[in-house]
Amino acid sequence: MDMGRHDILFFPINSGEHKGEWSTCMAECHTNPSDYTDFSCGLNGVCHEHNQNDMDNKHDDESGYFYENTACFSCHPNGEEND
Ligand code: HEC
Repeated sequence: MDMGRHDILFFPINSGEHKGEWSTCMAECHTNPSDYTDFSCGLNGVCHEHNQNDMDNKHDDESGYFYENTACFSCHPNGEEND
């Protein structure tokens, strides 16, 4: 997939906060190789910065926060702090 189009159509990984933060498509994000709509936000220790303790602490005043990939994406569709 053209990676510039990936940023526009799906989620920015070549610009913004996630630029250069990943090393493989499959291990870190597309953990289900047969369905690319099924994604991971690097939870459960895959991405150090997204560990549950830190994320729970950062979001302790957010109602509607869950430590789940779909929740992350719904509040951060562009992967920025203030989406
Ligand atoms: C209910 C909406 C919501 C959900 C769900 C949510 N976030 Fe956030 N997130 C926010 C808001 C609002 C901020 C900025 C407010 C703040 O810093 O207190 C933020 C801040 C952040 C930050 C910046 C923290 C910092 O260092 O200051 C990161 C990284 C982040 N979120 C990642 C995630 C991840 C990963 C998930 C899923 C596990 C997630 N968010 C789920 C709303 C949400």
